[in-house]
Amino acid sequence: MLSAKSRPVIQATLPVVGEHIKDIAECFYRHLFTTHPELLDGIFNRGNQAQGTQQLALAGSVAAFATALVKTPGHLPENLLARIAHKHASLAIQPEQYEIVHDNLMRAVAEVLGKAVTPDVAAAWDEVYWLMAYTLIHVERGLYSARAVRPQTVWRKWEVEKKIRETDDVVTFVLKRIDDRIVKPSLPGQYITVQVPMPDGRRQPRQYSLSRADQGEHRQFTVKRVYGRGNPDGEVSTLLHTTVNVGDALTISVPFGAVVLDDYSGRPMVFASAGIGITPMAGMLSHLATAGSHLQIMLLHADHNENSFALRGQILDDIARLSNASIHVWYEQSANSRLPVGVFSGRMDISQVRLPDNASYHLCGPVPFMHEVRSALIERGVPPRDIQYEVFGPDLWQADYE
Ligand SMILES: Cc1cc2nc3c(=O)[nH]c(=O)nc-3n(C[C@H](O)[C@H](O)[C@H](O)COP(=O)(O)OP(=O)(O)OC[C@H]3O[C@@H](n4cnc5c(N)ncnc54)[C@H](O)[C@@H]3O)c2cc1C
Ligand code: HEM
Repeated sequence: MLSAKSRPVIQATLPVVGEHIKDIAECFYRHLFTTHPELLDGIFNRGNQAQGTQQLALAGSVAAFATALVKTPGHLPENLLARIAHKHASLAIQPEQYEIVHDNLMRAVAEVLGKAVTPDVAAAWDEVYWLMAYTLIHVERGLYSARAVRPQTVWRKWEVEKKIRETDDVVTFVLKRIDDRIVKPSLPGQYITVQVPMPDGRRQPRQYSLSRADQGEHRQFTVKRVYGRGNPDGEVSTLLHTTVNVGDALTISVPFGAVVLDDYSGRPMVFASAGIGITPMAGMLSHLATAGSHLQIMLLHADHNENSFALRGQILDDIARLSNASIHVWYEQSANSRLPVGVFSGRMDISQVRLPDNASYHLCGPVPFMHEVRSALIERGVPPRDIQYEVFGPDLWQADYE
């Protein structure tokens, strides 16, 4: 809870901070990486820095938190905080690092806003920062403790047991445990962070959703190769595709991720994905099939065509193993199909299928796709709280706060 002294100051300065928050975030990262270049080795994703998406996500999250403190103090943005905390934990962020971020963020605020930052203004934003930081530190401590790890033991080495070509530009990696320490099974919908050494000597982290249920002895994830088309090719996906092979060691985190399946509610579940957004859906279906679930489950999937539909063999097998599951597919380029189910041509249109009543929804795919499906669901009366989504990058959408 913000102090009575800081509340009016934050209320009065939110518009000016909001207006300059992108500049503040950019200035912050410049200072952060100059004073702490080690953070660019294995911790921060330089692809997101180059695109500016992480700067926007940080700025948006601080603005959302400060706004909630003054407008709805009893209702902080929980989903947003959970998403950040899981991402942090998957990168082994430590409580002590919050001091470093604080110093560089406050320096950036002072530099960008200049004279507007009186001692009272600085003190009030300092309070906002630490309220958010302690909330995150607290959640992150719980996440580490639930997995019996510390930030120092989040990273483990695994060995590539299989590398499976799914489509022209998608491969699946199956890793096996080579570490003596016990690791827990993943939860349905979670991801791991892969940390790979790059040719320039620095390590780079990237998140990949687990695409199959596991018992802790194996981890499976599925990677789409990113072509730059005018920009640089995606560096980690290209490296994983071209240089990592069976027998190689890979460093990955223990699994994290706030968007997980709640299969205790007994409600029907609808998964809607597009393209490589199929990966967490495959993971969730695999968990449900392994558990012998009798829930009503519906997978809606959109892709370019049949050849680009990754993991389709595994998914069809899991749908067949489930007693009450169905799949509906849309191909944008051609409806030619050898799947044993009907295929629609064109983009996904949820009005073409009969959705179960009182279902909970999971979405994953490009943000415009998720935007469209979420809007269509809300228009049909689905409550926003019943729609969860996973973004394959910093979450700039923050749909829960629209
Ligand atoms: C929770 C989560 C789960 C995910 N799950 C999966 C999954 O299951 N499967 C999967 O394939 N991916 C998944 N991703 C995405 C994955 O983490 C990577 O983002 C993806 O593989 C691309 O990484 P990269 O290193 O190949 O590309 P990067 O090198 O990070 O590049 C990303 C983009 O930035 C552009 N870019 C890079 N440098 C510049 C520059 N200087 N100027 C302009 N543009 C530039 C590139 O052209 C490219 O389009 C997930 C992400 C998250 C957050
Ligand atoms: C109050 C303080 C902080 C806030 C508000 C904050 C906010 C965020 C947000 C919004 C994201 C993006 C989440 C997503 O949508 O995926 C993120 C990711 C991240 N944060 Fe923080 N963070 C804070 C502290 C820290 C600290 C102390 C560190 C450690 C150096 C850190 C390192 C990272 C890293 C490495 C990422 C992933 C970046 C990427 O993938 O591009 N953060 N943080």
